[in-house]
Amino acid sequence: MKNSIITIDGYSSCGKSTLAKQLAKKLGYAYIDSGAMYRAITLFFLRHHIDYTDHRQVVDALTDITIEFHPNEVSHQSEIYLNGENVEYLIRDMIIADKVSEVAAIKEVRDFAVAQQRLMGKKKGIVMDGRDIGTTVFPNAQLKIFMTADSAVRVERRFKELYEKNPNITIEEVKNNLEMRDYIDSNREISPLRKADDAVVLDNTNLSMEQQLKFAENLLKEKIGAV
Ligand code: DC
Repeated sequence: MKNSIITIDGYSSCGKSTLAKQLAKKLGYAYIDSGAMYRAITLFFLRHHIDYTDHRQVVDALTDITIEFHPNEVSHQSEIYLNGENVEYLIRDMIIADKVSEVAAIKEVRDFAVAQQRLMGKKKGIVMDGRDIGTTVFPNAQLKIFMTADSAVRVERRFKELYEKNPNITIEEVKNNLEMRDYIDSNREISPLRKADDAVVLDNTNLSMEQQLKFAENLLKEKIGAV
């Protein structure tokens, strides 16, 4: 099937993007990392010293932001561009992770990102991961997965990933950041992180990547008739 929408929501560092990329590749679909959009907006706000508690500044700043995704020429993986600059790696920094949940809780920011996410979904054939994709962005998606994992396991995974780039990072920093983001993401007023009623829960605490993929492939077969 060429024209389905698959949503993958869940807590921070559950491996949503890994699974989303695998499914997109398997199906020949586009993969969109919606979290990257909130991270890119946060990068813009920090660079331009936008006081994001000031409504006017936020609204003005958003008019200066263009976000696009383009495939990397070598890996063919989709990467994010902020006003024409590839910021795929910059936005993974802890400086961004520390602020992104506050920025993502702002109504105007969400309206801006969600409108673009829906446009990207118009062509269908898309796997999008995030926090509100199955609940708000694409409530009629053909397959919705809600991912979770034990928090200690998630901290360990994220720590390993960040440590490779920055050996000065501590496990406490990573733990605090994950807890803080999950709290803000789950308790904000607009589109908080929650499982859509029709989403299937995938808890990968004790699953290998292969087992997780198998689980998702069975869902694909069942819900959209594809593997
Ligand atoms: O998936 P991620 O960790 O890169 O996302 C970064 C932040 O963006 C996350 O803490 C919450 C926010 N986010 C969101 O509010 N809604 C989404 N659909 C995706 C991410």
